[in-house]
Amino acid sequence: MGSQKLLEVENLCIRYGALTAVSSVSFSVSNKEVVGLVGESGAGKSATAKGIIGLLPPIARMSGSVRYRGEELVGASRARLQKARGAQIGYIFQDALTALDPVRTVGVQLVEALRVHKPVSKREAWQAGEALLEELKIRDPRRVMNSYAHELSGGMRQRAIIALALIAEPEVIIADEVTSALDVTVQRKVLEILLRVCSDRGAGLIMITHDLGVVAQTCDRVIVLYGGIVAEDADVYTLFDHPRHPYTHALMRSMPRVGSDAPFEPIPGSAIQVFGELQMCPFHERCAKAGPDCSAKLPPVQTYGGSQFRCFHPVGLEQ
Ligand SMILES: Nc1ncnc2c1ncn2[C@@H]1O[C@H](COP(=O)(O)OP(=O)(O)O)[C@@H](O)[C@H]1O
Ligand SMILES: [Mg+2]
Repeated sequence: MGSQKLLEVENLCIRYGALTAVSSVSFSVSNKEVVGLVGESGAGKSATAKGIIGLLPPIARMSGSVRYRGEELVGASRARLQKARGAQIGYIFQDALTALDPVRTVGVQLVEALRVHKPVSKREAWQAGEALLEELKIRDPRRVMNSYAHELSGGMRQRAIIALALIAEPEVIIADEVTSALDVTVQRKVLEILLRVCSDRGAGLIMITHDLGVVAQTCDRVIVLYGGIVAEDADVYTLFDHPRHPYTHALMRSMPRVGSDAPFEPIPGSAIQVFGELQMCPFHERCAKAGPDCSAKLPPVQTYGGSQFRCFHPVGLEQ
């Protein structure tokens, strides 16, 4: 079976009152594809994730389109969205350590998460939970099934949370900063496991992170968000070889690189909050290449050599 578009996000806009968290964000996810949403804190990554699964707080206003296998989810009924969440689109949230209920065992939570969506007995659900923990390379699944969150190490807890998102076999998984709280070795292992399980099941994965190291390790395609817009969109090789948006370029130079002694340079200034409609490049104040055009209007999307970017002065394409 070839690649199929599972999720299509088009022109997504999200506002919290006067604050515009997400403007015109578009991307799609196919089966077996890992799409990275990357950007600094406040870029609109979590808002995008919450918008996709219909879990924005009541004050938020959203427009645009989110299609799961062609079916529109924006404006869908609560019942429809509830079915989508977990069974079709699984999500692992950033505040994941609160995702486990402290007073119920991992097993009880897995059984419930599966039985909400699938007509299976408690016994079958328990067995499915145990099998999934084994698939997630948990050495003693039975013990973990009978454990409470506080009895588990950080890495184990994170795997239990991933299990909760995967138990009903969703076809798209959204992982929001899932490994940020873990040390590097545990992080690598958890990412490897998550990628393998998604690939075994043919699922699509949206990997949300502020860490380009995680992107390089996991993603096929990368969406770089800045100030709620897609600054750049490219496959992972094109992005790392030829970052076109000065923000992507700056982000890369701000990270320590393996095998390089080059000093890393933090991006000057701080991330922006956008109010009302965006009328200029949100990055222009921090950008070494910005000209008067950048503060006069929002650059349109340009395409060059496999990347799309919103910039009047793209890196490496100076005239
Ligand atoms: N519940 C909320 N109410 C008001 N503003 C919010 C709320 N949640 C997020 N924001 C704002 O929306 C913007 C995007 O936030 P978020 O999507 O959480 O960013 P990221 O996940 O990329 O760090 C930020 O400016 C943030 O302050
Ligand atoms: Mg976030």
